[in-house]
Amino acid sequence: MDRMRKMAMNRVDSKPVDVVVMAAGKGTRMKSRLPKVLQRLAGVPLVQHVLNTAAQLQARSAVVITGHGADQVEPLLLAPDQVLAVQCVRQEPQLGTGHAVQQAVPALADDGIVVILSGDVPLTQADTLQALIAQCGGDKLALLTIDFADPTGYGRIVRGGGQGDAVQAIVEQKDATEAQRKINEVYSGIMAVPATWLKAWLARLDNQNAQGEYYLTDVVKFAVADGVPVVAHKISDALQVAGINSPVQLAELECAHQHRQAVHFMEQGVRLKDPARFDVRGQLVCAQDVEIDVNCIFEGMVSLGEGVKIGANCIIANCRIEAGAVIHPFTHIDGEKLGVTVGEGALIGPFARLRPGAQLGAEVHIGNFVEVKNATLAHGAKANHLAYLGDATVGERVNYGAGSITANYDGANKHRTVIEADVHIGSNCVLVAPVTIGAGGTVGGGSTITKNTEPGALSVARGKQISIANWARPQKKPKA
Ligand code: UD1
Ligand code: CA
Repeated sequence: MDRMRKMAMNRVDSKPVDVVVMAAGKGTRMKSRLPKVLQRLAGVPLVQHVLNTAAQLQARSAVVITGHGADQVEPLLLAPDQVLAVQCVRQEPQLGTGHAVQQAVPALADDGIVVILSGDVPLTQADTLQALIAQCGGDKLALLTIDFADPTGYGRIVRGGGQGDAVQAIVEQKDATEAQRKINEVYSGIMAVPATWLKAWLARLDNQNAQGEYYLTDVVKFAVADGVPVVAHKISDALQVAGINSPVQLAELECAHQHRQAVHFMEQGVRLKDPARFDVRGQLVCAQDVEIDVNCIFEGMVSLGEGVKIGANCIIANCRIEAGAVIHPFTHIDGEKLGVTVGEGALIGPFARLRPGAQLGAEVHIGNFVEVKNATLAHGAKANHLAYLGDATVGERVNYGAGSITANYDGANKHRTVIEADVHIGSNCVLVAPVTIGAGGTVGGGSTITKNTEPGALSVARGKQISIANWARPQKKPKA
């Protein structure tokens, strides 16, 4: 069905799609050293949201216009793992949106439909753009528009003028008459246009307007003059066309986006204690009957198995949590590049910290103030209090005592600690790696273990206790 629809669409839009993203503007109102298009929404740079959407259009090529902060923006665009092969074109100085797209002309083929996007409008959906491309149909100028109760600041869609309801022009706020300012239909900043027409119209732009800029929006009046139909694809979802100009708008869009994600998860059956206190900054996948308490943040790629429960105030990043595991409040998990796995039925926290490469088997218990890094814990292993397990391999049913640590770093290199199955490590032990504790062995509390131990052995390595009977403590001298 989906494939058939796609094939049908491809027949309609037989022309290839080329994307242009405008991302050269200054973003003065952000008052930030970071270029505006690198500000993050839901943990992802604004321009990356735009590229992610563009990637879904099966575009033939993508050109991004950079300028302000180009040295910072281009490395992201050209990163080897970028979703789309991007060509960067510099616009210097920045003389307006029309001038921006003029810079892309040499990079654009003549036989395509050009979809023009803004790097600061992050939440447009691919199906909206597909519909816009279909409206363009390869021989029309298609504008994405929306009605705003308060259209202040936007270009207004001027219709009619003896031509029925047809679009005649886009008039910018600063050039608009009193009557035009009352128009509620605004231009979103997004259009689809045949490349040949676009190139012809861009060549005719001037900057005779209130801002002395080359306006991309002036192409509309050239289309009308050339008898090319101008169609408006009007949508009602304001989030899809919301642009970011200031920290307030960034926060408002973040909030609206998070709420929309929260609703989406609840509709799939996820139980959120409070959708207003739930943030996903990346990709979260939830199986059935997941419960999430308030103030949890999910980052990067996270998957939660069936029946997983997440307590309040957890931050969970780049992690797979398997069915039935419980993450108690205030736990911090970040797998970064190596990832973290929490096995079935494991109990983690409160106040636990799982770092990259923590691979916890089923029924593992990690308690408060326990840190695990690059360590594998097999089925049923437990470290319940105040401990560190770094660069370690821990066998089944091991019990790792309070206050014990693996001394994994000799100041130059990291070494591995192996704790075989059924070992019992007492409290406050130091296991100096590389070292292996043999299966079923016991390490006495307070031991500093520097040599391998035999299976089944009790190993104690600490100063012997001495007791001096009737010990008289030193006394303070009485004042003279
Ligand atoms: C633009 C539209 C306006 C529309 C609005 C929607 C024009 C003239 N006006 O206005 O009709 O309602 O978007 O948000 O197009 N940019 C460059 N180089 C430049 C100038 C801008 O790359 O020289 C980029 C910016 O980085 C930004 C985008 O183009 O990503 C839009 O520029 P902006 O200045 O925000 O345009 P608006 O005034 O909002
Ligand atoms: Ca803008």
